[in-house]
Amino acid sequence: MTRMTAPAVVAAKGVRKLPMLTAYDYAAARLAEAAGIDLLLVGDSLAMVVLGHEDTLSVTMEEMLHHVRAVSRGAQKALVIADMPFMSYQASVAEAVTNAGRFLKEGRAGAVKLEGGREVAPQVRAMVAAGIPVLGHVGLTPQHVAALGGFKVQSKTAKDAAELFADAMALAEAGCFGVVLECIPAPVAAAVTKALPVPTIGIGAGPDCDGQVLVFHDVLGLYDRIHPKFVKQYAELGKSAVEALTQYAQAVTKGTFPGPEHVFSMAPEAHDTFLSMIAAATSAKPTDPNDPSNP
Ligand code: KIV
Repeated sequence: MTRMTAPAVVAAKGVRKLPMLTAYDYAAARLAEAAGIDLLLVGDSLAMVVLGHEDTLSVTMEEMLHHVRAVSRGAQKALVIADMPFMSYQASVAEAVTNAGRFLKEGRAGAVKLEGGREVAPQVRAMVAAGIPVLGHVGLTPQHVAALGGFKVQSKTAKDAAELFADAMALAEAGCFGVVLECIPAPVAAAVTKALPVPTIGIGAGPDCDGQVLVFHDVLGLYDRIHPKFVKQYAELGKSAVEALTQYAQAVTKGTFPGPEHVFSMAPEAHDTFLSMIAAATSAKPTDPNDPSNP
């Protein structure tokens, strides 16, 4: 069994398209891998879809590490990519390398992802020099939601598209093994994909990217708070889950669960002896705690 690696991702450019999915726990990692997903991103989107926050800003290093470890335990072949949470890499290059290193050392991830363009190139260079594969992320970068004024399509003007192009090139030059392009016009993503020496992974960036990524809960219909236009929902597991759980709740209420097939039995002699023991214990005279003859 060969494990997907960052160099293998680079080698796939122009050869085959790369399927990537977010995963936040052991079970999801196993399901995704069984489905043939090459790249598992423990995205900071877990803040929203798993932890119920409004955006991705509040998730911590420790929370991310907890989920990265679980995904790493479930993934045998896929490359596990840990998302660097907000303010774990922006303040200094040294802090960025230390935190990225924790994802490989303690989380057993194979790579990290960070958001931003030219401004994070020094962090990327230092991480790569330390032996940490890095995936870049430009376009709609949710950690900038406050500055961007919401989750909006990016790079719609020629000037903004050219800025994004320069950012993606700078990330590749700094050593990124790939770059996520989020929520940008398809022609911009196509031009970046053509020019970049490493794969682009699109999310809301059209069909010309070298790979695609979606959020696990969006693909399976498990998160109903927002519905981005670029998501294709492949199943309605949320609906099926509510149907199944309703049946369970009703069965408990009616007393039809557990049935005889879910019950553990006991040898009749052991049962009889047990009943005699509790009968003897309950009929025994209770001791008076105020009687001084009681030890
Ligand atoms: O956190 C995340 O899920 C992401 C992807 C959607 C690219 O960053």
